[in-house]
Amino acid sequence: MFLPVLGKEDTIHEHNDLLAGKRVLDLACGDGHYTRKLKEQLGASEVVGIDISQAMIDIARSKERERPFGIIYEVADAQMLTPPSIKYDVVTAFYLLNFARTSEELERMVRVISEQLADGQTFFGVITNVCGSEATYNNEKHHKYAFMRETNLSNWPLHNGAEVKYTHFNDQQNTSFSYITYYLSPQTYEQAFKRAGFTYFKWVPLESDPKVEDRAFYDDFINYAPAIGIVASK
Ligand SMILES: C[S@@+](CC[C@H](N)C(=O)[O-])C[C@H]1O[C@@H](n2cnc3c(N)ncnc32)[C@H](O)[C@@H]1O
Repeated sequence: MFLPVLGKEDTIHEHNDLLAGKRVLDLACGDGHYTRKLKEQLGASEVVGIDISQAMIDIARSKERERPFGIIYEVADAQMLTPPSIKYDVVTAFYLLNFARTSEELERMVRVISEQLADGQTFFGVITNVCGSEATYNNEKHHKYAFMRETNLSNWPLHNGAEVKYTHFNDQQNTSFSYITYYLSPQTYEQAFKRAGFTYFKWVPLESDPKVEDRAFYDDFINYAPAIGIVASK
């Protein structure tokens, strides 16, 4: 997702300096799983992670203490951030926007993203796949990846605000956890970005890593993709 936008097309070589010199804001950072990768694997020079959950930020901070990357973590609602004095070069949000229940909530989040981002710069996001067909909700195809999606498909196509429940399993520990996300149509997303001043918007389908040996294992994940990327520039 990052490569073509940042001028590098080849996916074979490591690009651990892709975000060198960039100040990055990671919204809905959770425990910092991807936030750390922005520094460690992509070389961002400054990274701030924001999450609405104090519990998640506590975990992220404790991981930062164990292995310091110089990342700052703060508790905040991504719908209510005030514009910063110095805007960011990159804003990321992995699995945030799919928690917007209405087009109004989505527009608030996207407006905040726009206000945080310097002019000419780019937002990279991942959301639950709102562009998939009915077939992409096939739970049998997802079990081998240790999760399932539960959605009421009797009213296909889905309407704005429809609940999409995700359950992830840990077979070794015999545990699972679930959360509800919300469907908003692709047009609702595109309009929210346009209204917030983004002039470029692209849906980015998932791809499997060409370096992975058992690539075929991921075919169902790609063909029945549970998530999709968004790249948008101001
Ligand atoms: C599925 S987790 C993703 C965490 C992380 N981005 C990742 O991919 O590992 C979703 C996160 O969104 C956070 N979140 C939900 N609504 C939010 C909001 N309005 N503002 C900030 N964070 C929010 C939750 O607390 C949770 O940590």
